[in-house]
Amino acid sequence: MAQLTVCPVEELPPGEVKIVRAGELALGVYNCDGEYFALEDRCSHDDGPLCEGDFEPAECIAICPRHGARFDVRTGRALTLPAYLPVDTFDVTVEDGMVLVEVP
Ligand code: FES
Repeated sequence: MAQLTVCPVEELPPGEVKIVRAGELALGVYNCDGEYFALEDRCSHDDGPLCEGDFEPAECIAICPRHGARFDVRTGRALTLPAYLPVDTFDVTVEDGMVLVEVP
């Protein structure tokens, strides 16, 4: 595991998402009402760019822009078809005012 620096906390306020890359891996880092979560930016249905879709921060849900599957950002669980498999999640921490994500 390695720690990837995402951004200073003030650049990721509640309701925002930031997409970052770690080599081949793309991640969406979300702020759901002050809690941070990270999802792989690849939909489990057909590899769509999940984190580029809409984000409903009140419910902490990401919506795939390709075919509209909804995912729980906290767990990666698929909530609606056409996706049924979860997407990978990654631990997010804050240290010295910086948002960090654990990547493989
Ligand atoms: S690629 Fe995401 S719902 Fe189809």
